[in-house]
Amino acid sequence: MSGSHTPVLLHEAVDGLNVNEAGVYVDCTFGRGGHSRLVLSRLGADGRLIALDRDPAAVEAAAGITDPRFTILHGAFGRLAQLLEGAGVTRVHGILLDLGMSSPQLEADERGFSFRREAPLDMRMDTTRGTTAAEWLAFATESEIREVIKNYGEERFAKSIAAAIVAARARGSLGTTRQLAALVAEAVPTRESHQDPATRTFQALRIHVNQELEELSLVLPQCVELLEAGGRLVVISFHSLEDRIVKRFLREQSRADTLPARLAVRARDLPQPRLRLIGKARRPSDSEIAINPRARSAIMRAAERTSASRDARPAGAWSDSSKGLAGRRPRNPGGTSKGRFEASLQV
Ligand SMILES: C[S@@+](CC[C@H](N)C(=O)[O-])C[C@H]1O[C@@H](n2cnc3c(N)ncnc32)[C@H](O)[C@@H]1O
Repeated sequence: MSGSHTPVLLHEAVDGLNVNEAGVYVDCTFGRGGHSRLVLSRLGADGRLIALDRDPAAVEAAAGITDPRFTILHGAFGRLAQLLEGAGVTRVHGILLDLGMSSPQLEADERGFSFRREAPLDMRMDTTRGTTAAEWLAFATESEIREVIKNYGEERFAKSIAAAIVAARARGSLGTTRQLAALVAEAVPTRESHQDPATRTFQALRIHVNQELEELSLVLPQCVELLEAGGRLVVISFHSLEDRIVKRFLREQSRADTLPARLAVRARDLPQPRLRLIGKARRPSDSEIAINPRARSAIMRAAERTSASRDARPAGAWSDSSKGLAGRRPRNPGGTSKGRFEASLQV
């Protein structure tokens, strides 16, 4: 599988990295390398770019870049520090995460990400390991299926969809994308304009199969550890579940700790924040969306590593809350951003 992918917020994201010519940069989501190529074009002879992707097809596509400053690694960014260490890298000057799916993944006939193409229900980004959507649906309980569809798809009709899936499974008629899409369409009584009724269910299964929110919660604290002072973190999200994790993490890491009033501690002795927010969240312009409709749900956030030392913050300050975020079952998953964010536009 090859195919092309139009990068989203290309210049905004690479500008956000504030590339210095001799720096070491990481593109955690190579895809088809749109962002990577622009970063490379801004690096000098001593600069370095390490890219990774969990999809072997993306890694294969990266073989087309023969630049000696470029390294591609196969793996999930949840293991970022370990993968970089294997490549001899322990400190970097910028990290990019362009989350979600690439167009070749969505458009490949055999991957099962899209309800528009008949395919086995695979949905793994890394086709070399893990459980496919079909395998999971074959043994999950009805309530597990309901919870995944409700929480990761923000789907009101999760209960009837889960019941329909379990009934189809018993009849032996649940193996392909079109079979799933058809039974979801039957189970969902209402229609949203511009959105297929199967959109939310496909998003939910994909997020679950690839443990996408867990991966995100794992990588963010590693980015803070890996960045040099002044180094930048740029994250592009495509739905509110991802963006909520990013927003909370950046807010938490960029907030100065406060102590109760009248406590005899000087402000400068308080643990200092390890990140500084760079600008506001950015969305693609109307003209970008007109050219690339897949950009319409994107939101980009950026932050800069401060010089606060690695242990400036009490241990576990983020990890406690991050655990809750990945595993959280939001009651109002759309939160305040509901309505502004579309459920999933990547199917
Ligand atoms: C939106 S695409 C990136 C597109 C890329 N920026 C470009 O310009 O071509 C997202 C990519 O991230 C990869 N990906 C998603 N989650 C990942 C993870 N946890 N670890 C590594 N790669 C991941 C996907 O396989 C996909 O290729």
